[in-house]
Amino acid sequence: MRTGESIIYMLLAATGLLLSCVAAQAGGVGMPNEPIITEGLNPVKFDHGIHRSLEIPCGECHHDDKHNPRRDEDILAVTDGKELHCRNCHNKDFANTFLQNRQDIFHINCRTCHAVGVNGTRGPRKCNGCHIKKMEKGEG
Ligand code: HEC
Ligand code: HEC
Ligand code: HEC
Ligand code: HEC
Repeated sequence: MRTGESIIYMLLAATGLLLSCVAAQAGGVGMPNEPIITEGLNPVKFDHGIHRSLEIPCGECHHDDKHNPRRDEDILAVTDGKELHCRNCHNKDFANTFLQNRQDIFHINCRTCHAVGVNGTRGPRKCNGCHIKKMEKGEG
């Protein structure tokens, strides 16, 4: 094989590799397969898979800066999972002061649905049904 040719093959191989990386990224980071642990003071183990199997759309929890539900395909194209973190918007600078702290936004999002349920299946409502650390006041 002539050098010119082999360089072309090398380039092709490299491009192929690059393309397959991009393809994996076009699928974005995707939905986390393993349960995630939230980063606050009273962390919770959250399993995307269990919620996905209930056919809850991504946008039920992930919305944009106008509070429109983000479409599954938008989220699946996100390349850095941190973009989806709630605290990017819900922090001490958030315009609506009732939606600044983690307890409020998560309890509204998570606990409301757990009480109502999906197709007759309800989610855990007790503190330690969600929280990993033993809660000081084990009410609820
Ligand atoms: C359906 C799930 C769920 C249940 C049930 C639940 N929580 Fe939470 N709670 C969360 C999530 C998610 C967060 C955000 C966790 C984080 O900050 O990492 C949170 C946050 C909190 C925080 C604030 C932590 C922080 O970082 O500021 C407190 C305090 C709290 N919960 C107390 C309770 C108590 C007390 C109960 C029972 C009466 C309870 N939670 C029940 C999901 C739940
Ligand atoms: C029932 C609520 C809920 C649904 C439905 C949901 N998510 Fe999430 N997702 C969360 C929460 C909560 C976090 C953690 C947010 C935080 O830490 O601020 C999260 C985080 C993520 C992250 C970032 C993980 C990281 O930290 O790197 C990705 C990526 C993600 N979700 C993708 C998806 C996709 C894709 C779907 C739909 C197939 C989906 N989610 C559906 C609640 C949900
Ligand atoms: C890109 C910015 C942004 C991100 C990221 C974001 N939110 Fe929001 N959220 C908003 C806006 C804007 C509103 C509407 C505020 C209002 O109505 O005053 C809102 C409203 C809410 C509300 C109140 C309305 C309702 O649905 O009952 C909850 C709860 C909430 N967000 C939870 C979350 C959770 C949980 C996450 C992370 C999984 C998250 N948000 C991520 C911008 C964001
Ligand atoms: C739209 C409805 C809905 C929302 C929103 C929702 N859940 Fe759930 N979740 C459910 C249902 C229904 C179940 C019970 C599934 C079953 O028993 O098969 C469940 C189960 C769970 C479980 C028990 C299964 C396990 O993983 O061990 C935990 C913990 C949990 N959810 C945490 C959360 C947290 C934290 C949030 C908010 C970030 C959340 N959920 C938001 C509907 C919801």
